[in-house]
Amino acid sequence: MFKARSSPDEPGTAVKVAVAVFLGANFTRLRADNPFRELKPLLEKLRAETPYVVADFHAWATGEKRLFFAAAAGLCTAVIGSHSRVQTADETILDGTAVICDAGRTGSTESVGGTDTAVRIQEYLTGIPDWTKDAWDKCELQGVIVEADGEGRALSIKRLRIPVPAGNQKMPEPDISEEG
Ligand SMILES: [Fe+2]
Repeated sequence: MFKARSSPDEPGTAVKVAVAVFLGANFTRLRADNPFRELKPLLEKLRAETPYVVADFHAWATGEKRLFFAAAAGLCTAVIGSHSRVQTADETILDGTAVICDAGRTGSTESVGGTDTAVRIQEYLTGIPDWTKDAWDKCELQGVIVEADGEGRALSIKRLRIPVPAGNQKMPEPDISEEG
């Protein structure tokens, strides 16, 4: 959630935020419109509604993400990369646009994208696919906090990692018993 404030001591005010999702073109099975071609017209359309525009760039390749950041610099408040589910440490501001290759994920830090690692290692050893199993050890909330001025230009971007307190690590087992 974004809040605008005129000084760090003042409480913020809720503002309208537009969010656009762009899909990368490299290594993806999904085909969407060219994100580089659609970037400017879509962001201009959204900026007519609100100065606070955030783009989620869902892509595999770091190089494509960095090029997309350069293309989006100055056109929106933030471009937040996603897909790899591993938080990167490359956050920066390019001409008023906050960027990071991946904001991370919320879930077990001892997993691969939320999946139990032992099952996946066994798959690599045997070449036999298996059912995935959720991992719940050492959970963290991850993301970024972006501060912006009244014009929607990013002032700062900070990575966020908040561990879930011990004792709250496990989700309750679902009740799958059938009644009646
Ligand atoms: Fe993905």
